Amino acid sequence: MKIVHLTDLHVQTRPRPSELLGKRLIGTANLYLLGRRAKFSPQVQQAAVDAALAESPDAVVITGDLTAQALDAEFAAARALLDPILRRFPTVMIPGNHDTYVRENVPGERMREVFGAWMGDGMPALIRIGDVQFATLETCRAHPLSSGYTPPDQLPVLGKLLDNAGEAFTFLCIHYPLRGRRGEAYGPSTRALANAAQVEAFLAQQRHIGAILHGHEHHGFRTELATGDGPVPVLDPGASGYAHLPDVDRRAHLNVYTVRDRRLQEVRRLRYADGRFEEEPGGAYATGR
Ligand SMILES: [Fe+2]
Repeated sequence: MKIVHLTDLHVQTRPRPSELLGKRLIGTANLYLLGRRAKFSPQVQQAAVDAALAESPDAVVITGDLTAQALDAEFAAARALLDPILRRFPTVMIPGNHDTYVRENVPGERMREVFGAWMGDGMPALIRIGDVQFATLETCRAHPLSSGYTPPDQLPVLGKLLDNAGEAFTFLCIHYPLRGRRGEAYGPSTRALANAAQVEAFLAQQRHIGAILHGHEHHGFRTELATGDGPVPVLDPGASGYAHLPDVDRRAHLNVYTVRDRRLQEVRRLRYADGRFEEEPGGAYATGR
């Protein structure tokens, strides 16, 4: 099984004045006055989709932040961008904090109106595609800062799903990192999962998790986390929609995983260069960027 992992595409449209309330007002100021807008590029987003199609994977997983501010027009644009993937390949996706920008009864409710067919029946969920499974766990909420939160009542529910997961290789999909690139608790707290320690303590008791996939941190990295089966790889490709800024060597990435015989056999990481995605020189994460 070949799995393409995209994250943090951040498809962006300009908000209407009536949409400029609360957090979006701050977000829009960040995007347009502080230059964040230039950090993401429609050309790169399209190239990421083209690269995913070229891999002809058995499944695609997207770990959130499809949009910049959860605007209706952004969800529609993200749906159009991803349509060639969604029509051809089984896909699983979860919301990121940018997709849950405004208060909802359940985080991700608005995203679900457009992408519900690829989000499972709710969170947590266990979604089987061929020989692999994707377990999802909520880590996002609308919040004045960018900190996330996992409702603690989701943990025992996920535990039951994992207990019954059987032997298929299981990816746990979350948006927020738990650890940073040096294995430290991920921070700063304004950008971190507020109850990461609680989630980690839970995961330390769980079996049947083969790897953990996340996004949120736009500069990708690979680390490890202890589970009931021992340490498992934790993988963040880095933002797949990042504009290419050669002067600071900043570029978009996506990952490609091969699962065979119930094991993660190979991790490839592709990076954006000259209008397309290419293999990361030296292998996944070798460049340190
Ligand atoms: Fe995020």
